Amino acid sequence: QNARESLYIALNYAKNYYQNNLFQHEEGQSIGYPYFKERGFSDKTIKAFELGYSLDIWDAFTKDALKNGYSIDVLEKAGLTIRKPEENKMFDRFRNRVIFPIHNVSGKTIAFGARILRADKNQPKYLNSPETEVYHKSNILYGIYQAKNAIRSKDVCYLVEGYTDVISLYQAGIENVVASSGTSLTLEQIRLIARFTQNITVLYDGDPAGIKASLRGMDMILEEGLNVKLVVFPQGEDPDSYVQKIGSDAFVQYISDHSSDFITFKAELFLKEAGNDPFKRAELIKDMVGSISRIPDSIKRSVFFQKTASLMQIDEGLLITESNKLALEKV
Ligand code: GTP
Ligand code: MN
Ligand code: MN
Ligand code: MN
Ligand code: MN
Repeated sequence: QNARESLYIALNYAKNYYQNNLFQHEEGQSIGYPYFKERGFSDKTIKAFELGYSLDIWDAFTKDALKNGYSIDVLEKAGLTIRKPEENKMFDRFRNRVIFPIHNVSGKTIAFGARILRADKNQPKYLNSPETEVYHKSNILYGIYQAKNAIRSKDVCYLVEGYTDVISLYQAGIENVVASSGTSLTLEQIRLIARFTQNITVLYDGDPAGIKASLRGMDMILEEGLNVKLVVFPQGEDPDSYVQKIGSDAFVQYISDHSSDFITFKAELFLKEAGNDPFKRAELIKDMVGSISRIPDSIKRSVFFQKTASLMQIDEGLLITESNKLALEKV
C-alpha cells in the first residue's frame, strides 16, 4: 500500500513536470505546445487532459526528480526511468515527445502515453508506460476520469481507439468518450464502463483494422450483457480527424444517422459481398446467430432473432434451433 502510494506521488510529480515543460520551458513552447495547437487543441482542453512535453535530453526528468528527493527505485518502478545497472546508466523513458497522462477513475495519474512529434520509421508513434504496480493497461480506459459523469448522465459511452479521438470529441462537446488505446478491448474494460452505463457505441477507425476490432469488441460487449451499437467512419477517417473536418454539429448528426445495431452492422458489412451466393448468405446468418447467442437476456435474444429472420428472409425457429445447438456445443 505504501509502495503504491509512493508511485502515485512520483507519477503526479512527473505529470506536473511534463506540464511545466509544455507551458514554461522554451523547448516545450517551441515544439510541444505548437504541436497541440496544430492538432486543434485549445488551452482549456490541454489543461483538462493535463497534456505535457518531455524534453529532448537523455535524463532531464530523472535528474530533476532525484534532485527533488525521489529515489531511483521508485522512478524505475513507476516506469519513468530506465536503468541499465551493468553500464551504470539511467535515462528517461519519454524524450522529445508530447505527453498524454493516463488517469484512473478517481483522477490519479497512473501512466503516460507519449507521441512522437513527426513520423519516424525507426521509432514507434506512441510509447507507453510499462505495466507497473499501479498501471494494468487491460483494466483502464483512457479518458474515464474526464468522461464518467457524462457517461452516466447521457447513459451511453462512446468507445474510440485513440488518445486524440477522446480529446477531440471532448473538445467538441462530446464528453462521454473513452479509448481502449490501441489494445483489444478486455472484459475488465467493459465492466468499468458498466459501472456508469449499459450502452456502448463503438466508434473505431474507418480502416480494416478498426472494423475487425469492432467485430471482436461487439461480441465481448454482448457477452457481458451490455447493449452495443456501432458506427463506421469513411475510409481513412478516425473520430478525431472526422470531427475536426466536419465540425461538432455535423459529427453528432453523423453518429445519430450511422449508429447501427450489431445485426445491421454485419449486414451492411457483408451482405453486399455475399450477394445471392447461398453459401455466403448461410455463413453470414450463422455468424449473426453466433453473436446473438452470446446475449444473456432471452428477450433481447428473441428481438434479434426476429430481426435476423426478417432481414435475411429465413425462418426464425430455425435460427433459434441453431443457437441452441451452439449453446450445447459450449457446455
Ligand atoms: P494520431 O496519429 O496521433 O492521431 O493517433 P491515433 O490515436 O489516430 O493512432 P492510431 O489510430 O494509429 O492508434 C490508436 C491508438 O493505438 C493510439 O492512440 C495509441 O493508444 C495506440 N497506438 C498507436 N500506435 C502505437 C504504437 O506505435 N505503440 C503503442 N504502444 N501504441 C500505439
Ligand atoms: Mn495490481
Ligand atoms: Mn488506426
Ligand atoms: Mn486513429
Ligand atoms: Mn488519429
